[in-house]
Amino acid sequence: MRLIIIGAPGAGKGTQAVNLSERLNVPHISTGDIFREIIEAGTHLGIEAKSYIEKGLLVPDELTISIVKDRIAKDDCKEGFLLDGFPRTIPQAEQFDEFLDNNDIKLDAVINLEVLDDVIVKRMEGRRVCKVCGRSYHIYSNPPKANGVCDFCGKQLVIRDDDKKETVLERLKTYYEKTTPLIDYYEKKKLLLHFDGTKAISETTEEIMERLLKKQVVS
Ligand code: AP5
Ligand code: MG
Repeated sequence: MRLIIIGAPGAGKGTQAVNLSERLNVPHISTGDIFREIIEAGTHLGIEAKSYIEKGLLVPDELTISIVKDRIAKDDCKEGFLLDGFPRTIPQAEQFDEFLDNNDIKLDAVINLEVLDDVIVKRMEGRRVCKVCGRSYHIYSNPPKANGVCDFCGKQLVIRDDDKKETVLERLKTYYEKTTPLIDYYEKKKLLLHFDGTKAISETTEEIMERLLKKQVVS
């Protein structure tokens, strides 16, 4: 199964993607997580990516697309994948479609999580993330079992560098300018499924699973 999950920063893409990748047994590929890994590793590409991410801007399309193509070509993506946060621009979507066509791969659905801006700003203020596995928590709405520690890998939770309020507002601006045209793009391809991202996390996961079942993407 080949899925994409799109939505504003903080809409819950990563949170839903973790649940769905477990349920559907497909790898969760987050371009944001990949960029954070290469930044941490201090590679040349990481240094370039950081200069955009810290300003709330998008990493250039060419770099992002080549990273995704390399990742999708790996063996664990043969039976499917769940892309979180890619594509994020029309050129990314077009070049990704070309890549899929050339490799005889078809997308099954694009999940769009809808959340209003004021909810997003509150979510980002309380978000804590695990640097090791990328899981997101929230100090009030989705707390870890033990304060400040990841439930899954036991590592310390941190605040993401780009979760400062001014960077969040910049990321939202970038989202409306560059990413919202994708809603139309995938709607025209009859791939888009809309979800209210403000419901309880598990409720949204169930709704997504039900819709995928109805669309006969899962059996
Ligand atoms: P990325 O890491 O993808 O950031 P983002 O899109 O801004 O999204 P987030 O990860 O911040 O939010 P999310 O939707 O995953 O929400 P989460 O589940 O954590 O990208 C970072 C940067 O990398 C970009 O700004 C860009 O510079 C660059 N980049 C990445 N991809 C790129 C691309 N394709 N092209 C170019 N550049 C790219 O949830 C948020 C919070 O809400 C958490 O605290 C969570 O616990 C809580 N929460 C989640 N769901 C609920 C719920 N239902 N109810 C209550 N709380 C909830
Ligand atoms: Mg995320």
